[in-house]
Amino acid sequence: MKSNTEKFGKTPHQPSLWTRADALKVHADDPTTTQPLVSANFPVLSNEVFIWDTMPLRDMDGNITSVDGWSVIFTLTADRHPNDPQYIDENGNYDITRDWNDRHGRAKMYYWFSRTGKDWKLGGRVMAEGVSPTVREWAGTPILLNEQGEVDLYYTAVTPGATIVKVRGRVVTTEHGVSMVGFEKVKPLFEADGKMYQTEAQNPFWGFRDPWPFRDPNDGKLYMLFEGNVAGERGSHKVGKAEIGDVPPGYEDVGNSRFQTACVGIAVARDEDGDDWEMLPPLLTAVGVNDQTERPHFVFQDGKYYLFTISHTFTYADCVTGPDGVYGFVADSLFGPYVPLNGSGLVLGNPSSQPFQTYSHCVMPNGLVTSFIDSVPTDESGTQIRIGGTEAPTVEIKIKGQQTFVVAEYDYGYIPPMLDVTLK
Ligand code: FRU
Repeated sequence: MKSNTEKFGKTPHQPSLWTRADALKVHADDPTTTQPLVSANFPVLSNEVFIWDTMPLRDMDGNITSVDGWSVIFTLTADRHPNDPQYIDENGNYDITRDWNDRHGRAKMYYWFSRTGKDWKLGGRVMAEGVSPTVREWAGTPILLNEQGEVDLYYTAVTPGATIVKVRGRVVTTEHGVSMVGFEKVKPLFEADGKMYQTEAQNPFWGFRDPWPFRDPNDGKLYMLFEGNVAGERGSHKVGKAEIGDVPPGYEDVGNSRFQTACVGIAVARDEDGDDWEMLPPLLTAVGVNDQTERPHFVFQDGKYYLFTISHTFTYADCVTGPDGVYGFVADSLFGPYVPLNGSGLVLGNPSSQPFQTYSHCVMPNGLVTSFIDSVPTDESGTQIRIGGTEAPTVEIKIKGQQTFVVAEYDYGYIPPMLDVTLK
């Protein structure tokens, strides 16, 4: 495979590397970077649907925004099938685990609203059936554009393929609730190019999704983060000195880590409306470390760029590991260089006693971190589990320089607004 300089050229930037040496510093169960235990007695948002990735309505600068006093979140959502023969096991019981595990194939975008930033009420589907061009409506970002209530929903249209798309609609409020209107014309924006970002043809397990547009607080331009893998045929990537980093004697063996090639992608808009985008080389690569850096997003604080991304234990490369959770990197300028927060990158991981309790963390600019409950053990051995598909307790972290600290825990799905917009 080509070196980074050969592949990405000399301009505009070189991707920063999350190295194997960095990942060796990841330690589960450090209380300052571990999500408090989630009780198996959690409440569920809905008995009709599972929800997972949660996308709070925000503005282009990243502020979580309510409209006319209503908080709004979008969620990836799928029906629960407690009575569907397909999900009834041989003993006549509902196999909720299988139903939950199958959810990605039927993910749809729904929205919820609330007066209190919690106790969410179901609004419904954002797009009518048949509007989205593919089967799966995968994660993205809803952006409130103006006081007229226009909303651009950026998301990922998956199966067939994976395309970053957007659809424009409008949020309408009354005394009694919120509705989403419009959202009728989906505009494809871009797909993986095979030169910087891996395509399905190069790797059937490729990842290309989760758009997160933002305005750079320094240059004022419109950009977008997304999840990708570094281009190249599966298995062709080299895990060399740079990817390994400064490891102690005995840690040079990289095993089969060439198969793990995650990166955080970035694109820049050529227009003000965000209809025309140019992909740039990744901001961060994790070749030889991890295969997924999902739902990348920023917090801009103290003049720095805090880049967060979620990842899994199962996507780590040989001989490196870490908990499911959110990882972070910090830089003084948009294009880096980025260094891992807390030395390792780990910001908020699941405790090892409940490795799947939460996932899909989103760090908001107020330091609150929202996520969903995946599964929580209900017995000592961890063999019995309760499936979530609902909002997890919100956690607060403090971000200080190159370190982060867990400092508080709040109610399930607590996502308070940072500013309120009165619609005209
Ligand atoms: C994270 C994620 C996203 C993707 C969605 C699919 O939980 O894997 O990257 O958009 O879930 O369900």
